[in-house]
Amino acid sequence: MARHLITSAIPYINGIKHLGNLVGSQLPADLYARYLRGRGNEVLFLCATDEHGTPAELAAAKAGKPVAEYCAEMHEVQARLAEGFRLSFDHFGRSSGPRNHRLTQAFAAALDKAGLIEEVSEEQMYSPTDGRFLPDRYIEGTCPNCGFDSARGDQCDNCTKQLDPTDLINPRSSVSGATDLEVRETRHLYLRQSQMRDALQDWIDSKTDWPILTTSIAKKWLNDGDGLQDRGITRDLDWGIPVRKGDDPWPGMESKVFYVWFDAPIEYIAAAQEWVDAGKGSDWERWWRTDKGAEDVRYTQFMGKDNVPFHTLSFPATILGSGEPWKLVDYIKSFNYLNYDGGQFSTSRGRGVFMDQALELLPADYWRWWLLSHAPETSDAEFTWDNFQASVNKDLADVLGNFVSRITKFCRSKFGEVVPEGGAYGEQETALIADLTARVRAFEGHMDAIEVRRAAAELRAIWAAGNEYLQSAAPWTTIKTDPERAAMQVRLGLNLIRFYAVLSVPFLPDASAELMAAMQTDLSDWPDDVPAALAALAPGHAFSVPEVTFRKVTDEEREDWAVRFAGVRS
Ligand code: 2FM
Ligand code: ZN
Repeated sequence: MARHLITSAIPYINGIKHLGNLVGSQLPADLYARYLRGRGNEVLFLCATDEHGTPAELAAAKAGKPVAEYCAEMHEVQARLAEGFRLSFDHFGRSSGPRNHRLTQAFAAALDKAGLIEEVSEEQMYSPTDGRFLPDRYIEGTCPNCGFDSARGDQCDNCTKQLDPTDLINPRSSVSGATDLEVRETRHLYLRQSQMRDALQDWIDSKTDWPILTTSIAKKWLNDGDGLQDRGITRDLDWGIPVRKGDDPWPGMESKVFYVWFDAPIEYIAAAQEWVDAGKGSDWERWWRTDKGAEDVRYTQFMGKDNVPFHTLSFPATILGSGEPWKLVDYIKSFNYLNYDGGQFSTSRGRGVFMDQALELLPADYWRWWLLSHAPETSDAEFTWDNFQASVNKDLADVLGNFVSRITKFCRSKFGEVVPEGGAYGEQETALIADLTARVRAFEGHMDAIEVRRAAAELRAIWAAGNEYLQSAAPWTTIKTDPERAAMQVRLGLNLIRFYAVLSVPFLPDASAELMAAMQTDLSDWPDDVPAALAALAPGHAFSVPEVTFRKVTDEEREDWAVRFAGVRS
């Protein structure tokens, strides 16, 4: 049994996330966490809401609420939706909590002690119309790198380049649209990341097993020198973690807060502390301190590609620079973007399907299956309603659902609601079991490597193998001439249902639980030994015929939904 720490990029507090956000970090992280738990590992799976910075302030202002109140409400909304999608976080924390305040201030103190913080007088955009400085997202303009005209002051969404507000061409205030901006002087703390270039380069070079998407982005920013320019880690904002040197004030910084991207990843650690505070665990240090046992932990992070520079360069710079024995990430799984029906998902324009809306249409498993089986791993992927309907109807309803329904109903009508005995396996059964053994080993390989699409394809093939077996064994025909043999075929079929339920938990937690309940068993051990797993339900074991496991998406629904989600969400 190994110990696995898993974190998903923490979603911004502002608003409900769309399916593209979900499949880029939280959902695959949940898949992996559930799989590792299923295989008997000790897992700590953490996520949180990212509550500071301009996105939170701007959204609260738009909602007409004090920002603290807005964040508290939206945290509850996001927590409920996470539950709805069955995201099995051990803790869903808040970056605005007291634990993160203290840890962030302590990291800043440690970095300062290590000589890695510099006070810099810089020029910043000031808006006389708004009466304030305009950091990060308070400002928009054209990206100097790629020409995208809605780049934000902190990052270009189009080319992922990290920006400073003063880099933007034709800058405007995102509060008022004002363009009469002035440059004024203000003092900020800078993290001297450039000092850590060699250490980071060596560390990244040692990660030879990382996905290409992750290392290519990391190396691009490292080698351009861009990602490692010294970075301002403070901001002129009201909402955020006050700049302090540990428990002491930081002279000259009294009215400032830390930059959201400085404190957000520290919340990964704070979330473990919050997990203990909430009484769900007893020792966070054995997950996070290498002097307290965390050297035995394997730490995997999940995120969209736009987050990669912060996790391969900025956060490791904080950890390494502190000189303290914090756990560094072992593996970073990153994702491309999911597009929506010929364009981008758009939060501002309400284009695409958002988490709350998805759950109003269909249960979580339908979405989980489509999203994971189409995860944007090697390139961007696209959601279309045609494709969604086809996948759900074929994979879930025709293959898995139909298998379960046929075998349980046939058994009920011929043998009653108990597993029948029948004779010994014949050639066909032996061949099926050999095939399934090979496929389960392949499935494990893909899951261990976090190859999400490949794992989904193998799982689908495992379901299909049972379906094909049933089709060709045809117990409904066999029973006419050889009832013993038909009973044996049905016994194997019923065992396959339990076997599928166990293997499918990471993808389809609700359907798996329903199938386990129908099979009246809680034997959920991972099928290390496939033949043994397929004999778990002994003759005489009672079961019930489950309700429809998966329904089909109709053509009318598909058309209706395509129209409904094409445009503006109020
Ligand atoms: O891109 C985002 O949604 C950010 N809120 C992710 C932050 S991840 C981290 F650093 F904690
Ligand atoms: Zn750009």
